[in-house]
Amino acid sequence: MTKDSVINVGLIGCGGIMHARLNGYKSLRDAGYDGVRIKALCDINPEGIRQYRCKSEGPGPRAAAGAFKHYYVDEIQPECVPEAYTDHREMLEKAGLDAVEVYTSDSTHHSLAIDCLNAGKHVMVEKPMAISVLAGKRMVEAAKKKGLVLATAHCFRFEEAIRATRFVVEQGTLGTLQVLSWCNVGRGDISKIKDRASKAWRHSRLGTAGEALENGCHFMDTVRFMIGEVDEVLGRVETFEKIRREYDGNGNVVKEIENENTDSFFAIVRFENGAVGQVSHVNNAHGEPLSPKPLGYGLYGSKGSIKNPELVLDDGTRASVVDILEEKAPAELKGQYFPLGMKNRYALEVHSFLEAIRDGREAEVSGEEGLRDIAASWAIVESSARGCAVKVDDVESGAIADCQKEIDEHYGLS
Ligand SMILES: NC(=O)c1ccc[n+]([C@@H]2O[C@H](COP(=O)([O-])OP(=O)(O)OC[C@H]3O[C@@H](n4cnc5c(N)ncnc54)[C@H](O)[C@@H]3O)[C@@H](O)[C@H]2O)c1
Repeated sequence: MTKDSVINVGLIGCGGIMHARLNGYKSLRDAGYDGVRIKALCDINPEGIRQYRCKSEGPGPRAAAGAFKHYYVDEIQPECVPEAYTDHREMLEKAGLDAVEVYTSDSTHHSLAIDCLNAGKHVMVEKPMAISVLAGKRMVEAAKKKGLVLATAHCFRFEEAIRATRFVVEQGTLGTLQVLSWCNVGRGDISKIKDRASKAWRHSRLGTAGEALENGCHFMDTVRFMIGEVDEVLGRVETFEKIRREYDGNGNVVKEIENENTDSFFAIVRFENGAVGQVSHVNNAHGEPLSPKPLGYGLYGSKGSIKNPELVLDDGTRASVVDILEEKAPAELKGQYFPLGMKNRYALEVHSFLEAIRDGREAEVSGEEGLRDIAASWAIVESSARGCAVKVDDVESGAIADCQKEIDEHYGLS
């Protein structure tokens, strides 16, 4: 692999998150990056592939998720229409890939990633990197054995304001870090978010591991990035909505689905540097949500605070952290945080993955980082079951794993 090589990637999982992923690829291209081709798309559902592969062949675009514009791959890279595969093993054998990105449901990440690594492909996996700590460990081992890049797609830390918060914290501007408060109460009635309600894996105990893992890993990765390593967690998980509903276009309930997963977590987090945080996420919010995502945190130190995300110091200083980063950060750091001047978080994370492959080094969110995020997230669940605080180290080592046993046994992980 040279500096000028084009990296051929295959994308597995043409579902909801592909909107965001292809928006990232579009931003990468618009920024002048020409070092990658999406050579293949893979999904067990051929309709999913058609929704993203080629504009002239496609059915109408999949309903856009959130703020993302729909793109077909051939709108982004007209010179290369990707091959289509419904079996990832066939894709690995025939498509001539250097790397694979795994965008499937949570419980499938580890087996797909390990197959790809064993076939000699570098891998980036959507968050959570794996459904359990043991599954994550097996992925890290497979990457190490083959000397390949394993990256985790944790997009929050690539947000400009999150990177700027880390910069201001690292400068010591807040003084001694004391308190983090980051409490989200939902996005309205979760059942009405059709893209969620219609996906069976999101309601299944073995398809994902509930809110502490699904969204908890986002929070854990972000706070670890901004503030420092998490030492101990006191957690509580709850299921407030046991039934989820699918609605038709007129708002009538067409299906009721039993939700086996927790939909909320509450965690008191102690950082190694002595700061203490309360981090929680409740997926439902009838009436009105509490805080805007994803930047509803407040961070307090002995000299001031960052929230919304604005720095406010006791000495009267008041400034946007994004402006501070822009004005004060060395050019080298800005180049590292925002290569090619890009700000799209999905473009930045795939760029980090691709350049790690090219340079033969770890991506910013390596397999080990993704594993630590899983351990910190599972610590919420394990702590809730034990009724006491747990060390993240003990969850990462496997010394505490009671709540993951059913999952590990089901997927044959030992
Ligand atoms: N970064 C974020 O903010 C964010 C947001 C949403 C989802 N996600 C993550 O992205 C992943 C996918 O979520 P989604 O909402 O797109 O799910 P989805 O159900 O819409 O899409 C998953 C796709 O994977 C396919 N698939 C499943 N098993 C497969 C296999 N063995 N081989 C090939 N294809 C397979 C399914 O057919 C489906 O099309 C999850 O891990 C989720 O946690 C991340």
